[in-house]
Amino acid sequence: MYTGLLHTHSLLRYLILLLLLAVIVKAFLGFSNKQAFGKLDNTLGLTLFSVTHTQLLVAILLYIVSPHVHFDGGAMKDPVTRYWTSEHITIMLAAIVMITMARITSKKMNDDTAKHKRMLIFNSIALVLILVAIVMSKRGFFSMPGTSA
Ligand code: HEM
Repeated sequence: MYTGLLHTHSLLRYLILLLLLAVIVKAFLGFSNKQAFGKLDNTLGLTLFSVTHTQLLVAILLYIVSPHVHFDGGAMKDPVTRYWTSEHITIMLAAIVMITMARITSKKMNDDTAKHKRMLIFNSIALVLILVAIVMSKRGFFSMPGTSA
């Protein structure tokens, strides 16, 4: 079960990064060219939102079964355990909140340029947070599950 969850979680990372890039580029073009917030913008945003929340469900299960997550006395003294037990979850949850807020708050806006701007700013923050967390994991951007600590 652990291996399956880790593979799924690892692969979903690539999908999220690709979708984030697509949403950010589209929002940037929409904002700078003052384009309408069209069907493709909505579909991309919704797909990113759905995949990110699927990632969250997989992540919660992975967090429960991962051998790198510990809450015993010395857990925070070991950098690898500290990263997977507290730092990864904190940064990634912040990124998920940004992606969620981008979708929910932009949907309520009437002005299309403001929608693009909201999608651009919030999703860019999410992208930076995810990239920072992946760098901090020291597993590299293109890690394969099970090949490192
Ligand atoms: C956008 C959200 C997230 C992304 C992009 C992401 C990305 C990643 C990546 C790239 C890995 C390394 C996989 C590998 O070794 O190939 C990983 C592992 C892991 N993530 Fe996430 N993560 C996210 C959210 C979360 C959340 C919210 C939690 C906790 C609830 C979490 C818990 C874990 C755990 C426990 C591991 C595995 C540690 C291990 O046993 O090796 N992740 N994640």
